[in-house]
Amino acid sequence: MIFYFSGTGNTRWAAEKMAEATAERLFFIPNELPTSCHYELEVGERIGFCFPVHGWQPPHIVREFLKKITFSTPSSDIREHYCYVLITCGDSAGETIEMCNSDLAPKNISIDFAISLIMPESYVCLPFMYTDKPQREEEKIAQASKDLDTAINIVCSRKRTTFLVKKGPLPWTFSHVIGAYFNAKMITDKKFRVDPDMCISCGKCVKVCPTGDIRLAEGVPEWKHNDSCTNCLACYHHCPRHAINYGRITRKRGQYYFGHRTTTSGE
Ligand SMILES: Cc1cc2nc3c(=O)[nH]c(=O)nc-3n(C[C@H](O)[C@H](O)[C@H](O)COP(=O)(O)O)c2cc1C
Ligand code: SF4
Ligand code: SF4
Repeated sequence: MIFYFSGTGNTRWAAEKMAEATAERLFFIPNELPTSCHYELEVGERIGFCFPVHGWQPPHIVREFLKKITFSTPSSDIREHYCYVLITCGDSAGETIEMCNSDLAPKNISIDFAISLIMPESYVCLPFMYTDKPQREEEKIAQASKDLDTAINIVCSRKRTTFLVKKGPLPWTFSHVIGAYFNAKMITDKKFRVDPDMCISCGKCVKVCPTGDIRLAEGVPEWKHNDSCTNCLACYHHCPRHAINYGRITRKRGQYYFGHRTTTSGE
């Protein structure tokens, strides 16, 4: 079984390809979290986790899920079930895999293989953070496609091999200091604003929000402020009118989601 999270579709693309190649069951983490999160593994079934990197860590919704998940298995040892993690990121993952490993350790699960796919950038809410230029997006997707094939081969043959993860410089500092601050203080829906003159009440933002954090009030989206927002930016990137902004900083930034080329050049 494969458990995945995705905001702008990069990880969904990878998880769906992996599920197709391995014929494994696919579960979307936001749909699973309100359930018991207990799963019955079949004989020899693999366990896969696919998610984007958020602030050099797993997104908080993924960490919550990893802490809650339990399995029953027909084998005597859960470690007989091959476990892999596939992450997507714009540039570097820091110690995301190590953090995932420690969340899984209390369940006696250890990661047999992990890979990072470098994919188009989705975070645009800080200075100097932009969507990639279209050519860079294409290059990243072409390379990610090859890396995904490698991952699929490794997972299909259940190899316990070197992790293919781009951690970047100072991975511990990025994950445990900068990323810890980012995830504790900067993931919020309180900064989203809608330009009512631009909004056409299409409801796309409501539909794409993976946590159900948005509703339309008299045709204009409003955020529920229920602490579920992951800052995945699906709402921002999918708005056909660029009517949603995160404070003022994103007003001239690009919009990207998988299968849709960046529309505005941010720089
Ligand atoms: C809140 C947030 C934080 C991010 N942090 C990082 C990061 O620390 N390192 C990185 O390389 N990319 C980072 N990114 C970029 C995403 O990891 C990358 O674009 C990913 O492929 C998006 O996956 P998705 O389309 O499945 O949501 C971040 C994106 C978001 C929305
Ligand atoms: S996606 Fe954009 S245009 Fe559509 S309802 Fe949301 S804010 Fe309005
Ligand atoms: S409100 Fe926007 S950023 Fe927050 S989880 Fe929903 S789609 Fe993602």
